[in-house]
Amino acid sequence: MTKAHSLALYAVSSLLIARFAIAQIPSASHQPWEDRRLPPEQRAEMVLQQMTLDEKIAMLHGTGQPGTGILAPEGRDSNGGAGYMVGVPRLAIPGLQMADAAYGVTKSGTTGRYSTALPSNMALAATWDPAAALRYGSLIGRELRAQGYNMTLGGGVDLARELRNGRNFEYGGEDPLLAGTMIGSAIRGLQAEHVVGDLKHYAMNDQESGRNAVDEHIDERSLRETDLLAFQIALREAKPGAVMCSYNRVNGDFACENQHLLTDVLRTDWHFKGFVVSDWQGTHSTVKASHAGLDHEEPDAIFYGQDYRKAVLDGRISQQELDEHVRRMLYAEFASGVADDPAHKSVVDVEGGLRLSQQLAEESIVLLKNEKQLLPLRENGMHRIAVIGSHADIAMISGGGSAQVDPPAGNAIMPSGQGDTHWMDKIWFPTSPLQALKEAFPAAQIEFSSGDDPAEATAIAKRCDVAIVLAWQWESEAMDLASLSLPERQDELIERVAAANPRTVVVLETGSAVTMPWASRTPAIVEAWYGGSHAAQALVRVLTGKTNPAGKLPITFPMSEADLPHRTVKTPPPASTEDFYGPQGAERDHAGLPPFTVDNTEGLKVGYKWYQAAKKPVLFPFGFGLSYTSFAFSNLKAQPDGKTVSLFVTNTGSTSGSTVAQVYVALPAGTEEPPLRLAGWARVTLAPSETREVSISIDPLLLSIFNTGTNAFQIVAGTYRFRAGSSSEDLPLSVEVNLALSAPDPAPR
Ligand code: BGC
Repeated sequence: MTKAHSLALYAVSSLLIARFAIAQIPSASHQPWEDRRLPPEQRAEMVLQQMTLDEKIAMLHGTGQPGTGILAPEGRDSNGGAGYMVGVPRLAIPGLQMADAAYGVTKSGTTGRYSTALPSNMALAATWDPAAALRYGSLIGRELRAQGYNMTLGGGVDLARELRNGRNFEYGGEDPLLAGTMIGSAIRGLQAEHVVGDLKHYAMNDQESGRNAVDEHIDERSLRETDLLAFQIALREAKPGAVMCSYNRVNGDFACENQHLLTDVLRTDWHFKGFVVSDWQGTHSTVKASHAGLDHEEPDAIFYGQDYRKAVLDGRISQQELDEHVRRMLYAEFASGVADDPAHKSVVDVEGGLRLSQQLAEESIVLLKNEKQLLPLRENGMHRIAVIGSHADIAMISGGGSAQVDPPAGNAIMPSGQGDTHWMDKIWFPTSPLQALKEAFPAAQIEFSSGDDPAEATAIAKRCDVAIVLAWQWESEAMDLASLSLPERQDELIERVAAANPRTVVVLETGSAVTMPWASRTPAIVEAWYGGSHAAQALVRVLTGKTNPAGKLPITFPMSEADLPHRTVKTPPPASTEDFYGPQGAERDHAGLPPFTVDNTEGLKVGYKWYQAAKKPVLFPFGFGLSYTSFAFSNLKAQPDGKTVSLFVTNTGSTSGSTVAQVYVALPAGTEEPPLRLAGWARVTLAPSETREVSISIDPLLLSIFNTGTNAFQIVAGTYRFRAGSSSEDLPLSVEVNLALSAPDPAPR
């Protein structure tokens, strides 16, 4: 054979091999499961049938968390987020790039990117505006994708059962309907951007102290009607791809190996189709966790890697059980659109993000007190303004822990060049109340004091027309608040400033409630939460009346800590040393350590339900918030089936404004329920003198109690009294309906 012949033969045979290969292995774009018209379940099943054992096992675990511990080589394509699951490239199944993103995408500082910080989740809940929540989630979804992620680890919906929980700022408040609706809507908005949504921390992760050891004891009915109801409503709203189980135990078992939570409730009762991901190092076993319903271990492969493989090969875990876990991972990818529309890095819309962040912050601000109409501040007569408070000249505080969003250029209060954000540092965002006030009052003389020297602050306050004190309380994952008092002697500072200037406005930058021993001596109080990237601009628009405040409290502000159901945050006994601050090794091995118990004896009485049942007066009630105008409510009517109520809302003042018409319900006597529960609401914007009728759908779940005998929610026969008004304590209208025994279908499908 000549050289020319052999070359020709080589060319023909390579062509044949290539054509043969194409015929045998369809190209990625022609896989049958890529047909978007097919239901996600069917597509997941088709992929599953093609997968090898090793590919399946690889989908059950993470590859290590960047920055902590060892990274597995399979994680080479990780985008650097907190978690990563490898995909199956030969089957066109993308990996899952997971990032914490509670109020914005985290870790952008370390990846050289930029993220918008939105107001905290608690602040979002204070808007009582599900449409705002959709926009909130959608922005986070877009920024996740722009940074190369396709799954969020946000979606915190634990109830503020313990008011000093250090993560309350990441959650949606104390009421299951409000929290479930608002956080569920945010995740719905996020998932619509083709990012896998997540709800966490399932369940009863209501305190951080000893979170890896604590065994939360609670009776089944209370569990279903409080903390689990928030998840149930959020699941129905969001249909998320994932649920993250929590660190703690619930009634004896760790949440991540708790058959009752993960299978009986989540799968059987609620028909959840996505996957359960463990909280980071929250997995404690292989066989038990797998049987219980944990699908995916993060961030490592301690229990769901080689050990899992062995358990399948020696028959301790069946092939069907393994397949079920993988099927759920695949389902989440198809249902959320992640498989069809891969995330590509692109430029974040900084301007658009700042605009939305500011709008939402304005909507979230709650005006708590406004005597003699001190607010809004008018330019005229405002010659000298005192601005007092830590860092109020340059920054406002944000919520910490794994939710921490990095400010551009790092922590605003650090000297330049050392602005990096670190775990357990208080991070201040570069949004300056002083500067925003200067822009709003260009002709005024504005004086600043940090308050470190109360004498100086008092002297300034005395010579000014108004004194604005910005007070803060920092919250973070991995700690609880030592108390509800403002730290660093800020109460004393406020007392002194208020004594020096009767026109003192206190602005709170807090994650949740604080006590206010000075409340009766300060004429104006504003709750600004952790307001995000443009918090100061939003605050000043409210202070000056450019935006009429309409936020309503998603939590009760009690008079004193002595009024809380749990008098002290429960901490682990020293002998168990299963403290969060323990070394990583101990964190991982804590399954063997002795649990300590928190008895949630308040049961159904979470938040306002507790204070109302005990007839304890509160400082500011759940649902409360003032406006620069006033509203009246009238004509409450209920349909005989209790499914809809309607009422008239009138703007009785002289300024346009928004309010939230709130409907609560008292269940029939004999049900042993707390006095009232939120049953629905409508947010309405009205011009002066305008009246509008609002119609509010009542979710049958909110008329039901959980019957542990039948394992179902049911409406019991009797008289249901709806009450309506502007907060849980101001309900001038009422109407009754009589309902017969029935069982709503509460399952999210
Ligand atoms: C937190 C989770 C978080 C995870 C990953 C854990 O410490 O509890 O909320 O998503 O870390 O960062």
